Amino acid sequence: MKPSVLTLVALVSLTLGAVQVSQANTGGVKSLRGDTELSSQDAADALKGPVDQDKPYASDYVFQPPLIPHKIRHYEMSLNANKCLACHSWKNARDSGATKISVTHYQARDGEVLADVSPRRYFCLQCHVPQVDAEPIVNNTFERVESLRQ
Ligand code: HEC
Ligand code: HEC
Repeated sequence: MKPSVLTLVALVSLTLGAVQVSQANTGGVKSLRGDTELSSQDAADALKGPVDQDKPYASDYVFQPPLIPHKIRHYEMSLNANKCLACHSWKNARDSGATKISVTHYQARDGEVLADVSPRRYFCLQCHVPQVDAEPIVNNTFERVESLRQ
């Protein structure tokens, strides 16, 4: 049986409509996947290089956990070993040349001063983070507190 002209016209307009809807649905918003189809894998971004510098970062506000100015790859932090303390503990800081952890790191939650690092300060990376040479993905207008501006 020959398809009638009417059926053909209906089919074509249906298809066109579907295409238009799928384009309009994004509303100009682009996902982090970019134009990659859902069914295929986007190429991974190259890893950013960690910053490794000699001097500490300036603080942005009072009581900020200082940023880590060196690489920390392969530094073990587990029940048995804490590589950070091998340099930063009061016992080892003099020999390693690293900044001593401050006295707050020896205080328990109720303010009691302990003989060793407080368990709540054991996992250093909870508060201290290394930096990479990346441009910010989103710009922001954050400014350092006035008393710390250079
Ligand atoms: C091999 C010794 C060594 C190890 C291990 C080490 N550090 Fe350091 N760290 C240093 C030295 C030395 C500095 C002083 C700045 C510099 O030379 O990079 C420093 C600086 C820092 C600073 C900045 C202090 C300031 O006054 O601003 C932080 C924070 C820090 N380290 C955290 C860590 C953490 C967290 C770890 C574990 C993941 C760690 N470090 C492991 C040697 C070490
Ligand atoms: C709960 C958050 C927290 C954790 C966990 C923590 N720190 Fe800190 N750290 C801070 C804050 C906040 C400061 C700045 C204020 C102060 O000195 O207490 C600081 C300061 C420091 C300083 C600079 C001291 C100075 O005199 O300038 C070093 C070095 C440091 N921390 C290393 C470490 C290491 C190594 C660990 C892991 C053993 C660690 N921190 C765990 C929050 C934390």
